[in-house]
Amino acid sequence: GTTGGTDHYAITQRETTAEIIPGVRTPLWTYDGTFPGPTIEARRGRPVTVTHRNELPVPTVVHLHGGRTPASSDGYPTDLVLPRDRPMEHPHAGMRDPRAVQTVLTRDYTFPTDQRPTMLWYHDHRMDYTAPAIWRGLAGMHVIRDDAEEALGLPAGPRELHLMIADRAFAADGTLHYPALRGRPGVQPEYEAGVLGDVILVNGAPWPVHEVDAARHRLRLLNASNARHYELEAVTDDGRRLELVQIGADQGLLANPVVHRTLPLAPAERYDVVVDFSGVRVGSRVRLVNRLGSGRTRAVMAFRVARRARDDSRVPRVLARDIPAWRRSDAVRVRDFSFRAGRMNGGHGWLIDGRPFDPARTDVTVRMGDVEVWRMVADVHHPVHLHLVGFKVLSRAGRRPHPHDAGLKDTISLRPGEAAEIITRFDGYRGRYLFHCHNAEHEDMGMMANLEVT
Ligand code: C2O
Ligand code: CU
Ligand code: CU
Repeated sequence: GTTGGTDHYAITQRETTAEIIPGVRTPLWTYDGTFPGPTIEARRGRPVTVTHRNELPVPTVVHLHGGRTPASSDGYPTDLVLPRDRPMEHPHAGMRDPRAVQTVLTRDYTFPTDQRPTMLWYHDHRMDYTAPAIWRGLAGMHVIRDDAEEALGLPAGPRELHLMIADRAFAADGTLHYPALRGRPGVQPEYEAGVLGDVILVNGAPWPVHEVDAARHRLRLLNASNARHYELEAVTDDGRRLELVQIGADQGLLANPVVHRTLPLAPAERYDVVVDFSGVRVGSRVRLVNRLGSGRTRAVMAFRVARRARDDSRVPRVLARDIPAWRRSDAVRVRDFSFRAGRMNGGHGWLIDGRPFDPARTDVTVRMGDVEVWRMVADVHHPVHLHLVGFKVLSRAGRRPHPHDAGLKDTISLRPGEAAEIITRFDGYRGRYLFHCHNAEHEDMGMMANLEVT
């Protein structure tokens, strides 16, 4: 609904079951009864308020990933929405930061939507329990649009597809399989690398086949997997690889399109690509394949080209002119971070600069408006995400960034042993935010830190 210039949504978080694997029902935790949750459609300049009501048996936290959001609506991991009618003890009784604890049964999250058009996603973010909550279904998409983007003539309507890709594992009775936790904190073998499934879901359906016209389509890809990486290619039945024309990154349109043959997707990354099915024989298929998968995890989904059709869409050579031109010399500070495994509470954890997440500690304080360069090194693959801001990739291993690093990002895929640099300007709102690994299990096992904008 619309009230006083604000778009309002109400979402009830509740348990349900769905037939994902034919013949069995899978219990899920959902936003409004569906997985993915309802897609929120927002217009730039129009604030959106989402009232979340928690009818799940556990506390929850909602975060709009990629949102430029005041801290009070950013979904800090201890800003809980408690289960309705089930008041319970705070799950982190030992926590030393009383100001972090807020306990309510419903919460209004307000998103000013004063940011570039793009596809964001919302998901659970409760401290220590984000990974199992997302696994059980707490994720949805949130699209921001504006007139300028719509005037470009990109494929639209039924030719714009929002594709949430996520792997899951199922037991024979249809229940989602997630390794049980035995004591925490600390790393356990089933979790160490993050949890993988052997079924690939797109918008909640296993290996779907989608009918398309023989025309250009805009695919807005989101990797909502806890830990799985993809390297996607689009292959026709006769073995041709179609071009993936990237038009946007996590934080909106690129300056100019970039043509890829394969596209890597780390957890939480989004890519906006145009694929042209006009040269594909009617009645045949184009398969979206994950080159990093093996056996049945190689297939992601397929497009069946159903009919010839007229196509008035286009992909302009200039997509956007509003990408910030930060240069290294603009930075008032260079910071170094390491993302590595290490000792934690006598066990083993995933750490940033040798420390596990602590809500009571401020790890980084930045001044509002400052441009900074962050240099990050990783031991193994870590997709690192910053809340609040978009950034550009400056370098990888001392060299130019990869072609898929183009544009404004909010998540960078750090490669094993590689040092990468990003540059950003911290603006928007003051307050407490986060940065963390978006391998959801790594995040739960400590690889997260506080970022205070003052
Ligand atoms: Cu997608 Cu801090 O999260
Ligand atoms: Cu985020
Ligand atoms: Cu990680």
